[in-house]
Amino acid sequence: MARRKNALGLDIGSSSVKLVQLRESKKGIELANFSMAPLPTEAIVDGAVMNASVVVETIQGMVAAQKLKQKECAVAISGHSVINRKISLPAMTQEELDESIKWEAEQYIPFDVNDVYLDYQILQSRPEQGQMDVLLVAAKKEIVDEYAGVVREAGLVPVVVDVDAFTLYNCFEASYGFPPGETVVLIDIGAGTITINVVSNGVSTFTRDISMGGNQYTEEIQKQLNVSYDEAEAYKRGGEAGVDADSVVPQEVEQVMSAVSESMASEIHRSLDFYLATSSEGRVSRVYLSGGTAKVPSLARTIEDKVGVAVELIDPFRNIQIDGKVFNLDYINEIRPLAAVAVGLGLRRAGDK
Ligand SMILES: Nc1ncnc2c1ncn2[C@@H]1O[C@H](COP(=O)(O)OP(=O)(O)OP(=O)(O)O)[C@@H](O)[C@H]1O
Ligand SMILES: [Mg+2]
Repeated sequence: MARRKNALGLDIGSSSVKLVQLRESKKGIELANFSMAPLPTEAIVDGAVMNASVVVETIQGMVAAQKLKQKECAVAISGHSVINRKISLPAMTQEELDESIKWEAEQYIPFDVNDVYLDYQILQSRPEQGQMDVLLVAAKKEIVDEYAGVVREAGLVPVVVDVDAFTLYNCFEASYGFPPGETVVLIDIGAGTITINVVSNGVSTFTRDISMGGNQYTEEIQKQLNVSYDEAEAYKRGGEAGVDADSVVPQEVEQVMSAVSESMASEIHRSLDFYLATSSEGRVSRVYLSGGTAKVPSLARTIEDKVGVAVELIDPFRNIQIDGKVFNLDYINEIRPLAAVAVGLGLRRAGDK
């Protein structure tokens, strides 16, 4: 039987929607489509859809502009409405687990178990202790249904609803592959959310979403320099878009940005320390960054200093063929870090678990 087609990867971020279409064949994975469209600031807040109609229109506009025929898509949710946890349970069969997971899960999640969709996977059995480790994912039905609803209203069919942290896993696995026996940390830093996934020996052992992101730089510049949001955004990007060529970036911008990088790196460091204190896994060998805010030069350096581990930008297109006659390669280079979640989603197929 032929393998099912890849779903459209639809990353509904708080600052923009990214859409990736991949084509997998014997020759490898090829980029068939990439597009991106901005969202107004209040459309998505803390992982919840605040203005559904603007998101629906944005997706419809992208699908129409790209003349996409395919309807099946994969989306992801993030933020406080998702809990990922490695839990220890008495050893049991898959059937017994299916029966009891709802009751077992109850004590690990801060929501009513009837209000969430549960997903779980046995990570490893430890027969000597009569225990096994299970990865438990609980996602608030309300939020999953909200995202699925928006996508349906835009005329697409949501065949996969994933979690941001796991899309990073899929993206990284396809681009680099997980080094056996090593612990790598994947961190996506977007406009409003930092998503962390610590992967040990190819297994996601810790994930966390922090409500911080690139907006912090923009808001801080806006406040400290008393400029408009758009000016602040342009200063943040080193004066590239929106400001005229001869304008210079004031020196204070640099200072404000270092201060924000410092607090963001501290927060990341705290999360990793917490993980290391509670896990038996070995030390972290490398940190990989994605998301638009990973492009802030001082941020990677500051994380490197604080965590004491080499930090690198993820290239989600590392193993994906891109035809220079179809795509503007300069543009693709610009958006590489922003495409990680969408690529992770575009690797999924209908019927995947
Ligand atoms: N060259 C750049 N320098 C600094 N920041 C940048 C640059 N390009 C984009 N950004 C910032 O990256 C952020 C957008 O990144 P991304 O598209 O990954 O976020 P998102 O997916 O929309 O948000 P989230 O995942 O947090 O909901 C914005 O805050 C934007 O200002
Ligand atoms: Mg994002």
